[in-house]
Amino acid sequence: MTDELEQRALITIFGGTGDLANRKLYPSLFHLYKKGSLGENFAVIGTARREWSDDFFRDKVKASLKDIEDHEELADAFSSHFYYQSHDVTNQESYVKLKTLSDELDEKYDLKGNRLFYLAMAPNFFGMIASRIKSEGFVDTEGFHRLIIEKPFGHDLKSAEELNNSLRQAFNEDEIYRIDHYLGKEMIQNISVIRFANSIIESLWNNRYIDNIQVTLSEVLGVEDRGKYYDESGALRDMVQNHILQIVSLLAMEPPIKLTTEEIRHEKVRALRSLRVYEGKEVHQNFIRGQYGEGEVDGKELKGYRQEENVDPHSNTETFVAAKLMIDNFRWTGVPFYIRTGKRLADKATQIAIHFKNVPLNLFGQQQSLGGNVLVIHIQPNEGITLHLNVKEPGQGMVTMPVNLDYVHSSPDGMNTPEAYEKLILDCLRGDATYFSHWDEVSLSWRFIDQIAAVWNTTKDHFPNYKSGSMGPKEADDLVQRDGFYWFPVNE
Ligand code: BG6
Repeated sequence: MTDELEQRALITIFGGTGDLANRKLYPSLFHLYKKGSLGENFAVIGTARREWSDDFFRDKVKASLKDIEDHEELADAFSSHFYYQSHDVTNQESYVKLKTLSDELDEKYDLKGNRLFYLAMAPNFFGMIASRIKSEGFVDTEGFHRLIIEKPFGHDLKSAEELNNSLRQAFNEDEIYRIDHYLGKEMIQNISVIRFANSIIESLWNNRYIDNIQVTLSEVLGVEDRGKYYDESGALRDMVQNHILQIVSLLAMEPPIKLTTEEIRHEKVRALRSLRVYEGKEVHQNFIRGQYGEGEVDGKELKGYRQEENVDPHSNTETFVAAKLMIDNFRWTGVPFYIRTGKRLADKATQIAIHFKNVPLNLFGQQQSLGGNVLVIHIQPNEGITLHLNVKEPGQGMVTMPVNLDYVHSSPDGMNTPEAYEKLILDCLRGDATYFSHWDEVSLSWRFIDQIAAVWNTTKDHFPNYKSGSMGPKEADDLVQRDGFYWFPVNE
């Protein structure tokens, strides 16, 4: 890892005209520029098939900054570092031209041969691009060579392995940075601090004191314009295989002996290896799927999933998953980790609720029900923690009442996705892979998910089974209620 404050690198973005580049990458790079983490020694090449001039590209880059306060001042200087190269990923000539431009920019900006390749496009060409990067000598320079890829990392373990093998032709595992943007979110990174910097929390963080843990990633939006991708993927692959299992592993892992990338990863991998693998009937008992139907929110009629663009009108794809995960190790035996995620739900919220066990005896009498102690980690739209406790109601007698201790603020930009990208890109430039998914984590997650998908593939559910604007199918409530629990409300 380099300590140099300003990062020098040539950043080549495959998919430079796309949505991800415009919405997330360019604004994130701009923030880094504004903060001085990117100085004058950097250049960005945007590539895509269409023919654009550098000027046209720079205008697009500037347009992508429109929501950033005071961007005008630096926008010209920033965008002058951007170059466009029309590129056909299947054509060798294209790589020759791209290589020539890369070498020129390397010299012009004194980049010391540091190269970051960002594949912000559909994964079917990843292997081809990686092998050309190698064969055309892009990685023969002296500096670092790193590759950032976006999910999906495959569709199942087998395809993920194929994808990985193709990337490994050109890059070592420690040069591959697999983005899981949830790992860049402020409060996800805060999990380790909340746990390991507070003895009163970590000492209770086990099956003696915790009843159950709930992870909710709920979204109000439907599939929008991503019907084609989503209908192949579904919520299990889109959200559970990556974001949710990453969060679960951070919650469940043992304290690492040091906060280094390797030690943290080692513990996360061990947590994932302890996940109970379900088979056959157990899958139906512990995994609930749902698909949204029509609904009405704020007087607005919403389409059902099957009516969305590019979605099969008979689709059996799930837009909602709830599950009960068990972690079979000494720390967690007997503690369910309930997870749920879905589209077109009532609220946009990401939160973790840690439910502590009730006091062994209610000294305050049956007529006064004590609220449970719950530690809520708010990830978005608010960030922070709330601890739910019981205190005495002021006045005569011993009447209890619930109170909340809050450390909560609204996240700087409402939804902290751009901020997450900014952190992750800087981590990658600095060579810090802590908040990226390692192949060991990805492959273990797929192994787990494949078991669920295999059983779901053999049966159909009665879809749609939840209304747009609700909190998912009734079976998701039954899943926790049959264990005597309830879903902790979101945004409270
Ligand atoms: C992405 C999924 O990984 O995460 C999307 O592909 C989902 O379907 C998104 O909408 C949610 O991210 P965030 O940061 O808005 O919670």
